[in-house]
Amino acid sequence: MAEPAVELESVEVRYGAVAAVRGLSLRVGEGEIVGLIGPNGAGKSTTLNAIMGVVHPHAGDIRLRGSSIRKRSPESIARRGLALVPEGRRIFAEFTVEENLRLGLASGRKRNGGNPLDRAYELFPVLRDFRRRPAGALSGGQQQQLAIGRALVSEPEVLLLDEPSLGLAPLAVESVFEALRGIREHGVTILLVEQRALHAVALADRTHVLVGGELRLTLNRTDAGDTDKIVSAYLSS
Ligand SMILES: Nc1ncnc2c1ncn2[C@@H]1O[C@H](COP(=O)(O)OP(=O)(O)OP(=O)(O)O)[C@@H](O)[C@H]1O
Ligand SMILES: [Mg+2]
Repeated sequence: MAEPAVELESVEVRYGAVAAVRGLSLRVGEGEIVGLIGPNGAGKSTTLNAIMGVVHPHAGDIRLRGSSIRKRSPESIARRGLALVPEGRRIFAEFTVEENLRLGLASGRKRNGGNPLDRAYELFPVLRDFRRRPAGALSGGQQQQLAIGRALVSEPEVLLLDEPSLGLAPLAVESVFEALRGIREHGVTILLVEQRALHAVALADRTHVLVGGELRLTLNRTDAGDTDKIVSAYLSS
């Protein structure tokens, strides 16, 4: 069997005395979308940051296609084909759309041929139309498209997204989820952290519920309508 794109084995992450992630094991297969949901403070962002090398686990292992990346830097992990769309977007409001996209080229792998920004422009044509505007002039939904587009210009094999629908109007939320489907169709593996639990469960191949740093439950697409099941998992801390 092929190695999973990303595998966490018994991962522990602490901030001083706070155990943010406890004994977490999960796998994301090549081309899959895996969801990660849970209440505030559950350790979702910490999990993504640990995979990206922003924080390092105190125990356990994180593997990318079978090779440990547990002690590697974010730059080294980006070169191996991972990209993170962080919580809160973190775009540069005074820089143009195009300048923001170019910043995505600073990390990640160097590619030859073609305009690497086309990857973002194909998925989000509005970014091409607005490429000379300051990013701060875009709507919230467009800024999120920019944040995702910036991660894609490095042509990652694995995309980590931290709450991409946060603070967006309903139509913009739908367009983010539509974009994620398009990104999957390009063969990109996705690990998605979301507050919109039902949306995540409906999209992902499977969705893990994290509570208090621990994996509580794994949901399938057929659970997408089962709010009770999700709520009771959230309450089971
Ligand atoms: N830099 C940090 N220093 C100290 N404690 C932190 C730090 N970052 C997170 N924590 C703590 O670790 C735990 C997990 O936080 P984390 O941000 O991973 O949760 P989350 O599931 O992403 O929450 P949210 O839904 O609010 O984004 C929380 O108790 C949080 O207070
Ligand atoms: Mg978070």
